Amino acid sequence: MQHPGGVRLALLLLAGLSLTEAVEVEVRGKDNKTCIYAVLSVNFTILYEGNVTMENATFPLPNSVSSNGSICGGNNSTPLLKMGFGTGHSLSLNFSHSTGKFRGDVLIFTYNTSDAKRFPGAKNKSVKHVAVNSLMDSTPLNTIYTCRSVEAIASEAVVMTFWNVSIQAFVENGTIGKNESVCRADLPTTVAPITTRTTPIVPTPVPTKPPPELPAVGNYTIKNGSDPCLLASMGLQLNITYTENKTHLVNIDSNSTASGYCGDKDATLVLEDMDTTIQFNFIVDQSKFFLKEVKANVSLVINGSRTALNSNNSNLRFWQAFVGSSYMCHKEQSIVVTDQLVINAFNVWVQPFQVKNGTFSRAEECLADSDLGFLVPIAVGAALGLLIILVIVSYIIGRRKSQTGYQSV
Ligand SMILES: *[C@@H]1O[C@H](CO)[C@@H](O)[C@H](O)[C@H]1NC(C)=O
Ligand SMILES: *[C@@H]1O[C@H](CO)[C@@H](O)[C@H](O)[C@H]1NC(C)=O
Ligand SMILES: *[C@@H]1O[C@H](CO)[C@@H](O)[C@H](O)[C@H]1NC(C)=O
Ligand SMILES: *[C@@H]1O[C@H](CO)[C@@H](O)[C@H](O)[C@H]1NC(C)=O
Ligand SMILES: *[C@@H]1O[C@H](CO)[C@@H](O)[C@H](O)[C@H]1NC(C)=O
Ligand SMILES: *[C@@H]1O[C@H](CO)[C@@H](O)[C@H](O)[C@H]1NC(C)=O
Ligand SMILES: *[C@@H]1O[C@H](CO)[C@@H](O)[C@H](O)[C@H]1NC(C)=O
Ligand SMILES: *[C@@H]1O[C@H](CO)[C@@H](O)[C@H](O)[C@H]1NC(C)=O
Ligand SMILES: *[C@@H]1O[C@H](CO)[C@@H](O)[C@H](O)[C@H]1NC(C)=O
Ligand SMILES: *[C@@H]1O[C@H](CO)[C@@H](O)[C@H](O)[C@H]1NC(C)=O
Ligand SMILES: *[C@@H]1O[C@H](CO)[C@@H](O)[C@H](O)[C@H]1NC(C)=O
Ligand SMILES: *[C@@H]1O[C@H](CO)[C@@H](O)[C@H](O)[C@H]1NC(C)=O
Repeated sequence: MQHPGGVRLALLLLAGLSLTEAVEVEVRGKDNKTCIYAVLSVNFTILYEGNVTMENATFPLPNSVSSNGSICGGNNSTPLLKMGFGTGHSLSLNFSHSTGKFRGDVLIFTYNTSDAKRFPGAKNKSVKHVAVNSLMDSTPLNTIYTCRSVEAIASEAVVMTFWNVSIQAFVENGTIGKNESVCRADLPTTVAPITTRTTPIVPTPVPTKPPPELPAVGNYTIKNGSDPCLLASMGLQLNITYTENKTHLVNIDSNSTASGYCGDKDATLVLEDMDTTIQFNFIVDQSKFFLKEVKANVSLVINGSRTALNSNNSNLRFWQAFVGSSYMCHKEQSIVVTDQLVINAFNVWVQPFQVKNGTFSRAEECLADSDLGFLVPIAVGAALGLLIILVIVSYIIGRRKSQTGYQSV
């Protein structure tokens, strides 16, 4: 169990100005080192049963909160940021981390309708809880997540509106990260890049949209005992269509965890990062192998709510080569999994069967990469040219013949 004794709370007073409430919370561990740091502004709107009609209570997260009950997190517990205020109200957020990233998991708002100041005339005086998934994007460890945009999370009775949010959990050595990871809402449609941190609260203009980054190439190995049996090296990008013409690009982390299975006739590669799990199933048919099936499971924030997308296609035929060799393609390829999901693959090099000595065997390159690819249009052009020449020649011969015909008359 953790010791809330060392937990400390700091208040942030905005230089003289503003009705805007911004609260700064710092959670410290036993060693008095900061383990969670947050600055945020929240407005709550809560529908409750008044003494005659339904009423809305509207109030902000006050700039004085207690971090009592917060947990730094350790081997058996995940970090928890708990901000208590008033008579029994609190907002808490727990965090998870994997593959070098962290994100907020579940946001729990607890409110007590016996607070007559905030809930005047409430009929039922009781403590209520609302739990929702947080909208926080995965953030690299040792960077601070920032989101200046206004984002609302609604459940049946409660609307929580957040803005000017800066959060870092799993703070290492008590030092807040110097780099910030900007939320997607601040940088529409692109993967959040890391920019140098300015002060977390002063609003700055939203940066202009950078061109979409290409995914980094990851090297993935599956082992059978200690022997590598499946090798893959590729950059992957998901193109997700979530309404008729809105798309969302997600680059797969090159540090994703690879797991899977190697058989004689089938092999599986599973790549997992915080928000995404993709499974590639390869099979052997006659003497060739190919990618037969893709299963993808993506968790992403769309229009202010966390959504799970599951896509599956088992009728694919990509990345085909003879068993005993590897498949290589430098060109970008688009694998259409479903109407909602297209996987853009870059610099693919895979060998799911008969890996020898932990290295790729001779590569069979895709048509687009090889010289043959250039030869196809040339061959078609040459054939067309030949046809035209033939037509012209036969026309001339035809004319000659008919001219000689006239002369003889
Ligand atoms: C913990 O650290 C803060 C800031 O460094 C300091 O103000 C405070 O006195 C320390 N508390 C304890 C119990 O050492
Ligand atoms: C939060 O509430 C205050 C007071 O009701 C209001 O002035 C402010 O505009 C609200 N902010 C947002 C982002 O909703
Ligand atoms: C309470 O607020 C919600 C959301 O802002 C609104 O849809 C609803 O009509 C309001 N209800 C009352 C009784 O004011
Ligand atoms: C913190 O919580 C504990 C147990 O819930 C309580 O005994 C203690 O008084 C609280 N401290 C503060 C400062 O609210
Ligand atoms: C966490 O586990 C590691 C190894 O299992 C151990 O060395 C470390 O002391 C543990 N830390 C805490 C805070 O229990
Ligand atoms: C966060 O809290 C929720 C609700 O208590 C729980 O279901 C979830 O597993 C927790 N997440 C982590 C990463 O501990
Ligand atoms: C509750 O209802 C009574 C009578 O309808 C009214 O006089 C009183 O002002 C109401 N109280 C509140 C807090 O709205
Ligand atoms: C934390 O301290 C260790 C040892 O001093 C150091 O190697 C590491 O880079 C530090 N991490 C950060 C984020 O400062
Ligand atoms: C993957 O392997 C290639 C070739 O061995 C190497 O050049 C590249 O840096 C590796 N990439 C990563 C992300 O480790
Ligand atoms: C993503 O898909 C949409 C719709 O199919 C397409 O218009 C867009 O060019 C694709 N973007 C990328 C980077 O592949
Ligand atoms: C991958 O992990 C390594 C070691 O943990 C780290 O140095 C590197 O920055 C990570 N790369 C990405 C793209 O996250
Ligand atoms: C396997 O790799 C090692 C080191 O890279 C090399 O010395 C050895 O000759 C290789 N064996 C075969 C059969 O290719």
